[in-house]
Amino acid sequence: ATESEEKDLVIIGGGVAGYVAAIKAGQEGLKVACIEKRGALGGTCLNVGCIPSKSLLNNSHLYHQILHDTKNRGIDVGEVKLNLAQMMKAKDTSVSGLTKGVEFLFKKNNVEYIKGTGAFADEHTIKVNLVDGGETHVRGKNIFIATGSESTPFPGLEVDEKKVITSTGALALKEVPKKMAVIGGGIIGLEMASVWSRLGAEVTVVEFLGQIGGPGMDAEVAKQAQKLLTKQGLKFKLNTKVTAGDAGGEGVKLSLEAAKGGKEETLDSDIVLVAIGRRAYTSGLGLEAIGLETDDRGRLVIDQEYRTKLPHIRVIGDCTFGPMLAHKAEEEAYAAVEFLTKNYGHVNYNAIPSVMYTHPEVAWVGQNEQELKKEGINYKVGSFPFSANSRAKTNLDTDGMVKFLADAETDRILGVHIIGANAGEMIAEGTLALEYGASTEDVARTCHAHPTLAEAFKEAAMSTYSKAIHY
Ligand code: FAD
Ligand code: NAI
Repeated sequence: ATESEEKDLVIIGGGVAGYVAAIKAGQEGLKVACIEKRGALGGTCLNVGCIPSKSLLNNSHLYHQILHDTKNRGIDVGEVKLNLAQMMKAKDTSVSGLTKGVEFLFKKNNVEYIKGTGAFADEHTIKVNLVDGGETHVRGKNIFIATGSESTPFPGLEVDEKKVITSTGALALKEVPKKMAVIGGGIIGLEMASVWSRLGAEVTVVEFLGQIGGPGMDAEVAKQAQKLLTKQGLKFKLNTKVTAGDAGGEGVKLSLEAAKGGKEETLDSDIVLVAIGRRAYTSGLGLEAIGLETDDRGRLVIDQEYRTKLPHIRVIGDCTFGPMLAHKAEEEAYAAVEFLTKNYGHVNYNAIPSVMYTHPEVAWVGQNEQELKKEGINYKVGSFPFSANSRAKTNLDTDGMVKFLADAETDRILGVHIIGANAGEMIAEGTLALEYGASTEDVARTCHAHPTLAEAFKEAAMSTYSKAIHY
């Protein structure tokens, strides 16, 4: 960057929020620069999040299936061996292909990529400490902060990414641990527990709440998921709080306590995964230089148009409010650029899907039963099990169900919850239905191809306002 050139938009952070905003702004003809300190674009998601975790989930599932689920399909396999180094290499290949792809898209859309750490020098100027040494200054008429999030530390357990690991360490272990403890039965905990359990580790997940999957997951679905994951070998300790950890000895010793107080015990393991949530990351940004403050959870405070109290500075993605999801960050990126260029933008926060990529997958959009009950909303429920779906039966993969929650009077869909082999793909239909304000009857009267798992979606909708045919 030349120090004199002023950009229309400078973006700090090249994660999903930042890189999507940069490309979109480039397409709109703005002069854009994106500053990223990691040395690769794509942020947490591409480098140490969504992408590498899905690579390991996919390949560990395949390994596990070859070990346990081939004979009845008429496939006799010989010796099956894990080559962990190659599995990690396959993951790295996917990651680097995608991060380089984003770099190519920057070039294609005239986005200047500045490799370095950005900090506010003043309200319009970012000082960048370059990755390759030296520094530069970039001025922006407008600035987006998209610096993402980091793993929340567990007090008293220092992360070394070997024995005490976050998700980043869990995506790069060099050998399969014998015993692994996981603090937190949220999405990260369960996805990583699945990977290492399939590869042979004995995994115990300790969760403070009475259900797995975090608060968004429907309680009935969470129960089913727990049952199926237990069958695969995972161990769970629910309603249990980890109160302390000691990694001083050979392994790690966790002190556990019943969530409501009382019973205490210890849990020994070779390594421990800390997965108790993520927190907004704004360290080193120099916010104090421009008088911007964060809330009690470290999130930058913004208005409906993503503006801070300095209106030319906007914030998108994990470092501000809302669910910490890549597709949420992406939607905010479009909207924030549109606010800038067209004065309007839109994200429907009621229709953001969530997916847990275990096997079976769990996916949902809209409200769950606990929430509807709490709000006193009069709702009806319809569901359809995959065990009654022809394609699931053909695939010999019948665990799970599709569940609709709809307004008791108007039949308008309020929430869709799926547990099943391809729940993550299928939820797109639920999201579209919710976005368009569809009723369950709208969905049920739409023709679905046969034989597909999607027919379970149709029949679950049908069972909400009428009766399913096949169950
Ligand atoms: P980030 O992706 O964190 O990007 C922020 C970037 O800003 C980083 O690259 C950082 O280096 C850079 N940065 C920070 N400060 C500065 C600075 N001062 N100067 C320059 N650069 C800076 N979400 C999903 O939707 N689906 C999934 O399957 C999924 N799986 C996940 C698995 C794991 C293990 C983890 C940890 C997360 C997962 N997530 C998933 C969440 C997803 O990764 C985040 O929601 C998403 O990355 C948020 O994007 P972001 O751009 O806001 O932040
Ligand atoms: P999370 O907030 O989903 O789950 C953390 C869990 O830890 C909670 O259930 C909480 O009750 C529990 N916990 C906290 N302290 C505890 C203690 N002392 N003892 C026992 N349990 C305790 O956070 P997680 O799983 O770390 O994920 C962080 C973020 O990353 C999430 O917001 C998620 O959206 C995102 N993510 C999304 C993925 C996806 O979309 N597939 C995959 C991975 C992460």
